Amino acid sequence: MEKPLNQQVVFITGAASGIGLACAYRFAQEGAAVIGFDISEGEQWQQVSDITDKQQLIAGDVMSLEQQQAAVQHAVDRYGALDVIITSAGIGDAGPVHMVEQDAWQRVIDINLTGTFLSIKAALPQMMKQRSGSIITVASVEGQIASEGGSSYNASKAAVINLTKNVAMDYGQMGIRANAICPGFIETPMFNSVMDHMPEMKESVRKEHKLGRFGQPEEMAGIAYFLASKDASFVTGQAIAGDGGYTCGPSHDIVSMMGLT
Ligand SMILES: NC(=O)c1ccc[n+]([C@@H]2O[C@H](COP(=O)([O-])OP(=O)(O)OC[C@H]3O[C@@H](n4cnc5c(N)ncnc54)[C@H](O)[C@@H]3O)[C@@H](O)[C@H]2O)c1
Repeated sequence: MEKPLNQQVVFITGAASGIGLACAYRFAQEGAAVIGFDISEGEQWQQVSDITDKQQLIAGDVMSLEQQQAAVQHAVDRYGALDVIITSAGIGDAGPVHMVEQDAWQRVIDINLTGTFLSIKAALPQMMKQRSGSIITVASVEGQIASEGGSSYNASKAAVINLTKNVAMDYGQMGIRANAICPGFIETPMFNSVMDHMPEMKESVRKEHKLGRFGQPEEMAGIAYFLASKDASFVTGQAIAGDGGYTCGPSHDIVSMMGLT
């Protein structure tokens, strides 16, 4: 059974920025012990470590199983358990197939998909020992529905969703739940690095969010909070979109014509 958040031990990859950082902040505020893991130093991590003395950012690459195993072991040695993992480390990339070089394709698949696989692989032995745990992957709406020019990224995120469902099937009877968060377009450094160069596309993508705005990293942390809590104790194998309605269906701007804005 899920512990109260203030007793949980949480391992978060990609914790130095964006959605992972917001998750670290939220769980720290709830009183959880948070072990962050990131390849970048994370100038903003200080705001998390200022909350209590139960937060730490460990440097490492999700492509290394050994580094992730060591970080998980550190969490267990220090806090006695591993209750939640959130796999937010990831990279963006774009391009239709004929324009994507094989090494660029491989890099996206390596970090987004294989990295997630290795995070889960590092966490499972402890969760199996405990017979409890909540695995929360960060996929994307672009893994649920395709988007123009998104071949490698979209394929990696679709695979993360199916991997998550498989983990839910394989380990459910051991008390381990697994769910994927599928963010819409969320205002993070990754988002800004793409959108800042393409204002027209940015406006068109904004309109596809039926709430008429982009999401905030804190709103994804709220979904992770729910998935870690006892309120989600019967929720597993789900791909939960936090997307402001992006996946409802295509927008033809009829709401504007009808004065519904
Ligand atoms: N921002 C969005 O609109 C959006 C939408 C859908 C899904 N996502 C997904 O959410 C996750 C977080 O994205 P974000 O927007 O917060 O991006 P971000 O760039 O702000 O944060 C990603 C973090 O992952 C870390 N990272 C990258 N490669 C790593 C590696 N090999 N090992 C360890 N850490 C690594 C980065 O250093 C960074 O701190 C990603 O998986 C992304 O694909 C984001």
